[in-house]
Amino acid sequence: MRNHVWRPLYLIIAVIALILLVRTLVVPEDFGSHESGYMYGWHRKGNEAEWQQVKVKYQTSAYCKDCHREMYDSIGKSPHGIIPCEDCHGPGAGHLDNPAKLPIDRSRQLCLRCHAQLPSPSSGRSAIRGIDPAGHNPEAECSLCHNPHNPTLEELP
Ligand code: HEC
Ligand code: HEC
Ligand code: HEC
Ligand code: HEC
Repeated sequence: MRNHVWRPLYLIIAVIALILLVRTLVVPEDFGSHESGYMYGWHRKGNEAEWQQVKVKYQTSAYCKDCHREMYDSIGKSPHGIIPCEDCHGPGAGHLDNPAKLPIDRSRQLCLRCHAQLPSPSSGRSAIRGIDPAGHNPEAECSLCHNPHNPTLEELP
C-alpha cells in the first residue's frame, strides 16, 4: 500500500496507544462498574465512603417544629409559609449543641434577595412583590416594620 495511507494509520495507532498508557496512569485503581453493573455503575469505590463522611447541614423545617412550634404554626399561615426556616436562618446543624449560636441575619439584604424589584419580568421570581430598595425606607431594617414570620400587610401598625 502507498505511504499516504499508512502514515495516518500509524498516527492513529500511536494515539490509541498513548490513550491506553495515560489511562493506566490516571484512572484510580478502584474505578470500575462494581456490583451496580455496566450500564450505570461506573464509579470509584472509595467515593462511597467519602460521601458517607459528608455531614448534613440542613435539617428541614419539620425539625425546627419540635422546639419552635408557635413560630412554625404562625409562619405556616402567612404569605411566607412556603419559605423553609433555614432559607433565612442558615443551616441548623450544630444548633442543638449551642442554641444561642445561630446568628440572626437582620440585614436588608436578606429580604432584598427576594423583594428587590426587578426591572424586567423574569421567571417566577418577579411575581414576588417588589420594592425599590433605595426608595423604600432605606434607613431601617425591614423587620423594624415587617414581621418576617408574618409579613401580612394588613397587620402593619
Ligand atoms: C431541640 C430544640 C430545638 C430545635 C430542634 C431547634 N431549636 Fe432553635 N433554639 C432552641 C433553643 C433552646 C434556643 C434558645 C432559646 C430561645 O431563643 O428560644 C433556640 C434559639 C433559636 C434562635 C434564636 C437565636 C438567637 O440568637 O437568639 C433561632 C433563630 C433558632 N433557634 C432557629 C431555629 C431553626 C431555624 C431551627 C431548625 C433548623 C431550630 N431553631 C431548631 C431550641 C431548638
Ligand atoms: C423570611 C425569612 C425568615 C424565615 C422564613 C424564618 N425566619 Fe425566623 N427570623 C427572621 C428574622 C429576620 C428574625 C429576626 C427578627 C427580629 O428580631 O427583628 C427571626 C427571628 C427568629 C427567632 C428568634 C427571635 C424570636 O422571635 O424568638 C427564632 C427562634 C426564629 N426566627 C425561628 C424561625 C423558625 C423556626 C422558622 C421556620 C418555621 C423561621 N424562623 C423562619 C427571618 C426568618
Ligand atoms: C419604616 C417602616 C418600613 C420599613 C423599614 C420597610 N417597610 Fe416595607 N412597607 C412598609 C409599609 C407601611 C408598607 C405598605 C405601604 C406601602 O406599600 O408603602 C410596606 C410595603 C412593603 C411591601 C409590599 C409592596 C407592595 O407593592 O405591595 C413589601 C414587599 C415590602 N414592604 C418589603 C420591605 C422590605 C424587603 C424592606 C427592607 C429592605 C422593607 N419593606 C422595609 C413599611 C416599611
Ligand atoms: C425566599 C424568598 C423570600 C425572602 C428571603 C423574603 N420574602 Fe417576603 N415574600 C416572599 C413571598 C413568596 C411572598 C408572598 C408573595 C407576595 O406577597 O409577593 C412574600 C411576601 C412578603 C410581603 C407581603 C405580604 C402580603 O401581605 O402579601 C412582605 C411585606 C414581605 N414578604 C416582607 C419580607 C421581609 C421583611 C423579608 C426579610 C425579613 C422577606 N420578606 C424575605 C418571599 C420572600
